[in-house]
Amino acid sequence: MPSDTLAPLREFVVAMTRLADETGLDEPVRIARAQGLLSALVRRDDWLPDACAQPHADFYQQYLLHCDPLERFSVVSFVWGPGQRTPVHNHGTWGLIGMLRGAEIGQRYRREADDGLVPDGPPARLEPGDIELVSPATGDIHLVENAFADQVSISIHVYGANIGAVRRHVFDPASGVAKPFVSGYSTETVPNLWDRSAQVRAMP
Ligand SMILES: [Fe+2]
Repeated sequence: MPSDTLAPLREFVVAMTRLADETGLDEPVRIARAQGLLSALVRRDDWLPDACAQPHADFYQQYLLHCDPLERFSVVSFVWGPGQRTPVHNHGTWGLIGMLRGAEIGQRYRREADDGLVPDGPPARLEPGDIELVSPATGDIHLVENAFADQVSISIHVYGANIGAVRRHVFDPASGVAKPFVSGYSTETVPNLWDRSAQVRAMP
């Protein structure tokens, strides 16, 4: 891959780091600005490394693209094989889902008085370029699935923490029973955003 292919992701990471460095922002403002950055990133589909776009036959994949060293945010590519879906789960932090390729369907849930979970609104379909927000402040429990039974879909997620290391929960929607889980990531490696040597050599 030519070294500059990753430039959009690198620039996104730089801008998110600057945003994380801004203290005193209310969370809705911070999320709105992160949403603007993610929107620009998923408006084009020419930068995701192939290694982070590979489906698995049995499981949806979560490739870590970058984690802030202070774990203030993380960026993940979610790769859905045909028909794959998550369990009903929460996040414990804000998260933005930007659709890159294919389409996915999200269903939000809310807790009922009897402790079961009920759908919160109709399912929402995300097409490339669309963004969805989850947040403990506004609704953090959902299920997501590939909209296609015969093709791969990919979304780019940004979370307000190192999401693979957050203690969170999956839920049985009928009973509302929560089971703890820590998602981790699908690989041990991350893309090398920082080899800018070709760019530097080309400079006069
Ligand atoms: Fe989620």
